[in-house]
Amino acid sequence: MVEKKGCRDGVPSAGNGFHQDLCSGKEWRKISTVWRLLVLVVIGAVSLYMCMVGVGTRQFPFESVEGAVVKDWRREDESCAPRGPSVDYYQHYPLPHSYGRQECQCTPVHFFVILSMQRSGSGWFETLLNNHPNISSHGEIFSVKPRRANFSTIARTMDKIYNLDWLNSAAKNECTAAVGFKWMLNQGPMEYSREVSDYFEKMGVSVILLLRRNVLKRLISILANAYDRKAKPLNGIHKSHVHSVEEAMKLAEYRPVIDVNHLTDNLHRVEQITDDAQRFFNNTRLRVVYYEDLVMDPKHLMQVQEFLGVQPRKLESLQVKIHTRPLREQIQNWDAVLARLKATQYETLLNDGDST
Ligand SMILES: *[C@@H]1O[C@H](CO)[C@@H](O)[C@H](O)[C@H]1NC(C)=O
Ligand SMILES: *[C@@H]1O[C@H](CO)[C@@H](O)[C@H](O)[C@H]1NC(C)=O
Ligand SMILES: *[C@@H]1O[C@H](CO)[C@@H](O)[C@H](O)[C@H]1NC(C)=O
Repeated sequence: MVEKKGCRDGVPSAGNGFHQDLCSGKEWRKISTVWRLLVLVVIGAVSLYMCMVGVGTRQFPFESVEGAVVKDWRREDESCAPRGPSVDYYQHYPLPHSYGRQECQCTPVHFFVILSMQRSGSGWFETLLNNHPNISSHGEIFSVKPRRANFSTIARTMDKIYNLDWLNSAAKNECTAAVGFKWMLNQGPMEYSREVSDYFEKMGVSVILLLRRNVLKRLISILANAYDRKAKPLNGIHKSHVHSVEEAMKLAEYRPVIDVNHLTDNLHRVEQITDDAQRFFNNTRLRVVYYEDLVMDPKHLMQVQEFLGVQPRKLESLQVKIHTRPLREQIQNWDAVLARLKATQYETLLNDGDST
């Protein structure tokens, strides 16, 4: 009351120049309080409106990984609940940004990834999977360097794939029931293993670790592919995978010389990498699949489809195997290789009975 009195007429008392400022400041504060209330009311109304219109029906079921992931890609629609029968993997109902899933919007989607190494049959394996009407596997996404610049770019890319917003020829769009991609171990997953494994766990991504038992044959394939990249015997075009027997025979004409001095070290390193991969991702839903098994017995491809949660069926690939001859005919310095590996743990790799 006392203060108010001095301000009533806006007359400065006792010649205090600051007093008037003080008084008019009070008036201003009163006005600004009204404004603030008004703004609050407006914000409240807008929030309420947004809650009622759609935004409330979506939720973000996952915490962002390392705080860097764009949550926007992870919209989940609750209108498809209840989720399907009890399965041991997470089922998602993505809402793609670029199209509607139409009649399949309530088809649950299972996320997967194929972790593999170059020349382990993963290209062939992926064409088989994509032969299934409900599987979309998007290829070697992270062979493009900027996408694996750091974990944020990796997570962003995966978010887009798993939200069914990655559009290419492999995309089945509406009725995809399993979506994934192929990821080479030397293109990021090992480097960022902790973050990546965390992401897989949180997002419920199932991991297929596709390996080749015979690492010696894999080495031949690597050397031959490197040679082809330079020499391009198929009319000057480099091909990692071929679709005709003639092309395969042409490529198989090249027989590499294997550096025997570093051979066991090389083979050992490959084993180490695959052991590490199993260890790094051991908290995810993981299945190790061997290329040799897939080639030898169709049962294994059926099991892969069950693992992915799709209806198993016979799958076909147009790819033709390049190296079909006995191992001794695929290597120029066979005798040296034989001598080097005899009586080592790798001796069994020379055993060629299974023609894979
Ligand atoms: C698989 O795809 C076909 C064809 O697009 C679709 O009719 C079917 O409903 C899908 N099945 C599942 C289980 O998603
Ligand atoms: C990740 O890489 C992208 C593209 O190179 C860059 O824009 C971004 O700032 C990087 N983020 C972090 C956290 O380093
Ligand atoms: C998974 O690997 C970690 C090391 O990376 C190890 O500590 C843990 O015991 C392993 N868990 C299983 C179930 O193998």
